[in-house]
Amino acid sequence: MKRAMFLVLFALGGAGAAHAEADIAAGEETYQGVCRNCHGPKAQGIASYPRLSDKDADYLTERLERYRDGEKIGPNSMLMIPHAKELSDADIANLAGYITTAFD
Ligand code: HEC
Repeated sequence: MKRAMFLVLFALGGAGAAHAEADIAAGEETYQGVCRNCHGPKAQGIASYPRLSDKDADYLTERLERYRDGEKIGPNSMLMIPHAKELSDADIANLAGYITTAFD
């Protein structure tokens, strides 16, 4: 009986993890609606707006979480922090998924 309980919980945990996968279409909508205004239509960056298309998902996630916390990282963080504040964990995962797959 205990064992059956464990298997049920394990199965539910697995289903939850699947939902956490990046929704690339949602990431595209946010990116092209907001982020492109500064980082460019292909995340190529321009002037003091950094290129994103050459970064990996872990890096993008870490940076977005730190900006969301209001942390100053580079000289122009004040431009980036207000946009990161709007993002949920799912938004960040979706954006990282989109940015790392759309511009190869
Ligand atoms: C108003 C312009 C602006 C908008 C809009 C904007 N950013 Fe930024 N972003 C910046 C600037 C400027 C920096 C560099 C900040 C610094 O100096 O710390 C930055 C930095 C970043 C970084 C870190 C890059 C690195 O090389 O470390 C990431 C990741 C990022 N932005 C993602 C996004 C995403 C995703 C969005 C859309 C939700 C977005 N940005 C919207 C201006 C913007």
